[in-house]
Amino acid sequence: MSGKIIYYTTYGSTQRYAEALGKLLGWEALPYKQAKKAQIAELDTVVLASNIRIGKMGIRKWAKRHAEMLKKKKILVLAVGGEIPDNQKYYYDAAVKNLGFLDLKQEQVAGLGGRKIRAEFNRLDTFLFNSLDKMIKDPAAKEDILKDVDLVDLSLLTGVAERLK
Ligand SMILES: Cc1cc2nc3c(=O)[nH]c(=O)nc-3n(C[C@H](O)[C@H](O)[C@H](O)COP(=O)(O)O)c2cc1C
Repeated sequence: MSGKIIYYTTYGSTQRYAEALGKLLGWEALPYKQAKKAQIAELDTVVLASNIRIGKMGIRKWAKRHAEMLKKKKILVLAVGGEIPDNQKYYYDAAVKNLGFLDLKQEQVAGLGGRKIRAEFNRLDTFLFNSLDKMIKDPAAKEDILKDVDLVDLSLLTGVAERLK
């Protein structure tokens, strides 16, 4: 079976997952900007790996542009966010909201914990989080939205790779 992993990352955790899964499967992992139609047309399977930022999956635009072609493939989505991976419902709902046109079933979405470290943010994200910091009054909500997290766990990919075999 032939496949590729197409990813969208801002800070690198989605890229790490995409490349590690690529190694497990012997498939190439490509940043979405380099993924051209002709490279995908021949494949059986496409893995769409993307971060979630303010509820939005970065890969959405690319996937929408290639929707007709993707609908003919076996698809698996890797959704990477700040939420714990135990909460697969959160990740599935986010994937359906962003990629609903692919008619995703639960087993086609794997939610993976990412990494969010404010000290490493670019200027725009720093500004955004500083503004949120001032706006959010409830301490529990503050902790939930603003705290640093490093949930990257590459061992979760073994189960994901099984789904693709
Ligand atoms: C501005 C911003 C917004 C975010 N919004 C969400 C979100 O809505 N849901 C979520 O689960 N994680 C959210 N996160 C956490 C990221 O998805 C997480 O850090 C992920 O690992 C980033 O992937 P990347 O390193 O590939 O860019 C957000 C992070 C940032 C910086």
